[in-house]
Amino acid sequence: MSIIVTGGAGFIGSNFVLDWLKAGDEPVITLDVLTYAGNLENLAALEGDARHTFVQGDICDRALVDRLLAEHRPRAIVHFAAESHVDRSISGPGAFMRTNVEGTFTLLEAARAYWSALDEAGKAAFRFHHVSTDEVYGSLKPEDPPFAETNAYEPNSPYSASKAASDHLVRAWHHTYGLPVVTTNCSNNYGPYHFPEKLIPLMIVNALAGKPLPVYGDGQQIRDWLYVTDHASAIRAVLAGGRLGETYNIGGWNEKANIDIVKTICALLDELRPSAEGSYARLITYVKDRPGHDRRYAIDARKVERELGWRPAETFETGIRKTVQWYLDNPEWVARVQSGAYREWLNKQYGAR
Ligand code: NAD
Ligand code: DAU
Repeated sequence: MSIIVTGGAGFIGSNFVLDWLKAGDEPVITLDVLTYAGNLENLAALEGDARHTFVQGDICDRALVDRLLAEHRPRAIVHFAAESHVDRSISGPGAFMRTNVEGTFTLLEAARAYWSALDEAGKAAFRFHHVSTDEVYGSLKPEDPPFAETNAYEPNSPYSASKAASDHLVRAWHHTYGLPVVTTNCSNNYGPYHFPEKLIPLMIVNALAGKPLPVYGDGQQIRDWLYVTDHASAIRAVLAGGRLGETYNIGGWNEKANIDIVKTICALLDELRPSAEGSYARLITYVKDRPGHDRRYAIDARKVERELGWRPAETFETGIRKTVQWYLDNPEWVARVQSGAYREWLNKQYGAR
């Protein structure tokens, strides 16, 4: 048996593939078109490993997806591929509609055709695992309880609206066609191979370069952070034992204000790579806020804990230390992802703020 992983060269997908092949020997076929966020270097440890096949291609390419399903006869599709950055969705929403909505639709239709033709045992074993986000639930007030699976969908950004649309498609393909789906809605991930357009890696990379640390608005927005390999273990648990058609919220009970995250990174760098010019906190710079910025996310992860016994292995303190250390240990990876296109993005996004 094997599984197909879409978006497996991105941040979470690559951590998932590496983790999957560490935990067992079931082969993985990674399908990834390699946008700016996809990086084969993330999977370099698997070079020459017969358990892993990489296919460069687009999830919107139905003929390609059909061919991969026919050739590899997987027992599951784990679907990570997406445009994932909120700020990019604000400046250019089109790619988000295409990949996140049309791409998920294409995969669902290909999966439905493949699954319908399986024998009864194959049908019962097959899973379409959709990887989604807590952002579909919108923004919480300070006194609100964390997001439960029963919360209404209230997406606020083009990114979260496109992910909400994809979640609804997945739900409908189960309800109408009986496709065996599970969906996970996870909070903010952090860890190795995180592209430095997102808060945590951007702050580490900028601090080491002596550049400003751009905090949006008042920096009091709250996110709920989960170390990426804990997300990978949650997906394995839900894929193995999640009830069909159900959604599971995944999170580590780690609500933190952005400014506290930035200060924690500065303190760790002060300890691990002290700067002659004084604390890295001197670089903190408040900049214009993100339009429509969600104030607070928090995940109630009791369902996945109760039903599947999943718990995160890392605390925020252990995870953030490992993460900072990984960026210090991998300057070549950092240098190579800072291509011309990356620098153009920084100029466009931060130049006028
Ligand atoms: P990422 O941007 O790092 O990686 C996305 C990957 O998908 C890249 O490798 C990219 O090349 C690939 N891709 C994009 N368009 C494609 C297409 N049309 N066909 C094939 N491949 C394509 O994203 P990430 O942070 O690793 O997120 C992965 C998934 O997890 C996404 O679905 C995202 O919505 C979800 N998620 C992310 C977080 C987070 O904190 N990063 C939290 C919860 C859920
Ligand atoms: O909640 C899960 C989501 O988390 C995922 O679905 C998304 O794919 C992922 O990108 C992430 O979205 P966020 O918008 O929360 O992540 P980001 O790292 O872009 O920003 C985190 C917070 O930090 C957010 O409140 C905005 C703020 N921020 C971000 C950047 C890039 C800053 O203050 N300055 C910055 O330069």
